[in-house]
Amino acid sequence: MTIEILYKELNVLITGGAGFIGGCLIRRLLNNRKLNIFNLDKLSYASDLRGIEECDEFKKHCLFKVDLSNFEETKKSVLIADPDIIFHLAAESHVDRSIENSKPFIESNIIGTFNLLEVARNHWNHLDKKRKKNFRFIHISTDEVFGSLGKNGYFDENSPYDPRSPYSASKAASDHLANAWFHTYDFPIISTNCSNNFGPYQFPEKLIPLTILKAVEDLPIPIYGNGENIRDWLYVEDHVDALIQIINNGEIGKKYCIGGNNEKTNLQIVNNICSYLDKKLNKNYSHKSLIKFVVDRPGHDKRYAINSNLIKKELNWKPKHSFEDAMNKTIEWYLNNKRWCDNVKNKSNYSGERLGISKSKI
Ligand code: NAD
Ligand code: DAU
Repeated sequence: MTIEILYKELNVLITGGAGFIGGCLIRRLLNNRKLNIFNLDKLSYASDLRGIEECDEFKKHCLFKVDLSNFEETKKSVLIADPDIIFHLAAESHVDRSIENSKPFIESNIIGTFNLLEVARNHWNHLDKKRKKNFRFIHISTDEVFGSLGKNGYFDENSPYDPRSPYSASKAASDHLANAWFHTYDFPIISTNCSNNFGPYQFPEKLIPLTILKAVEDLPIPIYGNGENIRDWLYVEDHVDALIQIINNGEIGKKYCIGGNNEKTNLQIVNNICSYLDKKLNKNYSHKSLIKFVVDRPGHDKRYAINSNLIKKELNWKPKHSFEDAMNKTIEWYLNNKRWCDNVKNKSNYSGERLGISKSKI
């Protein structure tokens, strides 16, 4: 798939491109020779550039080590990148960290988004007519802004906002800013709210990579509460497909909900990984014996589930990967990239004290 907005060459700025989803998007966009790729990232604990560096086209990628909460640095980067398209993914992304220390989430997700919107709007205002017409700002957000579902129902584009963690509240605030910039200034924004992603290069503090690594190392696998909370899982490459469909054909001012239609309890996810590893590693006990039910996450949302009918109908998007194949591929990737995992884990400064698990084990 390629970006089709017809223009000689396009400058594409991706914020958070050193993270899990942004990195996957950059790897994909580097295949298109007509695109000049700029990556703005503060290079936090969650960042890693090795996935991008493995691409043949890697040298086309230009990196700005910039924190979006710094207005002047953000302005300079946008001036240099001179973007036709901005994909805004940069955010502090882990709920547990937001519970432990919410300030970085306010600074990055709210102030950072505000700074980027203002700088980008000023840039857009000064473009010539043709570039101005084709300019797009894609604001990437999460289904968590809609709060928690009961047993029935789905989130969609009309769901009311009801964020319940410092992370989701900061993302909700960023969504409201993006929406206001569209209505007030006609700034050409399209927003997305996506469900839980999984795949290679996800930082091993999130449920799926954390479970794989704990199991492989024979360490306790922490499950919060009773393990019955439900998430809707989407393979990261399918999320990137959706973002590309949106840049090609999405309607300015619209929001698209993106989900995998793969609702699983956390216990199902962990059992699934353990069963795969049982077969693969053939130890003399089941990895399920490592499961440890730990104290629940405060404000733990019960269920997320997305109705993606709008993007399916209007943009002809649908996930290409089955959950089972994508999950098996992901497990294999972590087994084959142990060195990457050890490296990124060493950068983490998360205490994990709330779980009664020592820092060295996270
Ligand atoms: P991630 O934590 O893996 O990567 C985020 C990247 O953003 C990191 O490289 C980090 O350094 C960078 N960043 C954070 N604050 C910054 C700042 N102030 N200035 C510059 N760079 C900054 O996150 P991810 O999982 O790749 O998520 C990317 C985006 O997608 C986020 O906006 C997140 O809210 C959203 N999202 C994620 C998921 C998911 O399941 N991972 C699902 C839906 C939406
Ligand atoms: O829904 C989209 C969101 O998905 C994104 O906006 C977030 O950036 C992303 O981190 C993710 O949030 P979650 O909180 O759902 O993901 P996490 O992997 O942290 O947790 C998934 C579920 O697993 C959740 O119910 C909490 C539970 N969990 C998590 C961890 C890390 C455990 O039971 N044990 C764990 O050790």
